Amino acid sequence: MKELEGLNIPAHVAIIMDGNGRWAKAKGLPRNYGHMEGAKTVENILEEASNMGIKYLTVYAFSTENWNRPQDEVKALMKLLRTYMKNCIAKSNKNNVRCRVIGDKTRLDEDLQKAIAKLEDATKTNDGMNFTIAINYGGRDEIIRSVKRIASQVKEGTLDPSQITEKILNDNLDTWELPDPDLLVRTCNELRISNFLLWQLAYTEMYFTEVAWPDFSKEELIKAIEAYNHRDRRYGGLTEGK
Ligand code: IPE
Ligand code: IPE
Ligand code: MG
Repeated sequence: MKELEGLNIPAHVAIIMDGNGRWAKAKGLPRNYGHMEGAKTVENILEEASNMGIKYLTVYAFSTENWNRPQDEVKALMKLLRTYMKNCIAKSNKNNVRCRVIGDKTRLDEDLQKAIAKLEDATKTNDGMNFTIAINYGGRDEIIRSVKRIASQVKEGTLDPSQITEKILNDNLDTWELPDPDLLVRTCNELRISNFLLWQLAYTEMYFTEVAWPDFSKEELIKAIEAYNHRDRRYGGLTEGK
């Protein structure tokens, strides 16, 4: 892709897709219309990111805190997710994309759980981009679920507390198969993490834009990658030669 020539493409891009509601409100439309437009943006960015050679794309679709929204909005979001899981099969297979869902799936309606299993299964042999959708996901909840798994191993006597390492905690997270994100993008001018990938974002570069999610495009993603290329990534040490 010409616009990306000479740029270092981050291996893992995570996105907090925010601003669907405000985008719709600014147009005098219902919030749920914003969510519908936002779903179209996900499909577009999935394809663009895959074409750009991004290896992992992870998006925040529904947080553990989003249950606190009005019932009709939660219902509309769940309905949209159900449809999205179906559409995503064709889109992913066309682009050789493997899909995974992270978050506590047990609280989701059974038919949505089935749709998720179907999507994951239908795309599991694709070896292009890894696309991960966070649904009923909370970073704190994910860490607690990891700790519970580790605690049961301790209780069974298969693990000694002195053997618990960062790797063991990491290996018990929903994201155990994924590298940590290199770049986090949040749209619509909010400068917070909102309980997304708390453990995994320890050394991630952050990029915030005023653009609302339904308006996010390939061009905006390129801007984020350009900004990432101007960062001096450090991990507590010093950059070589600086
Ligand atoms: C992001 O848009 C989508 C979800 C969180 C499900 P919002 O619905 O948060 O939109 P704003 O932030 O209210 O504009
Ligand atoms: C974060 O957005 C969750 C998702 C994008 C799914 P929110 O809009 O829910 O976050 P807050 O409430 O503004 O922090
Ligand atoms: Mg929001």
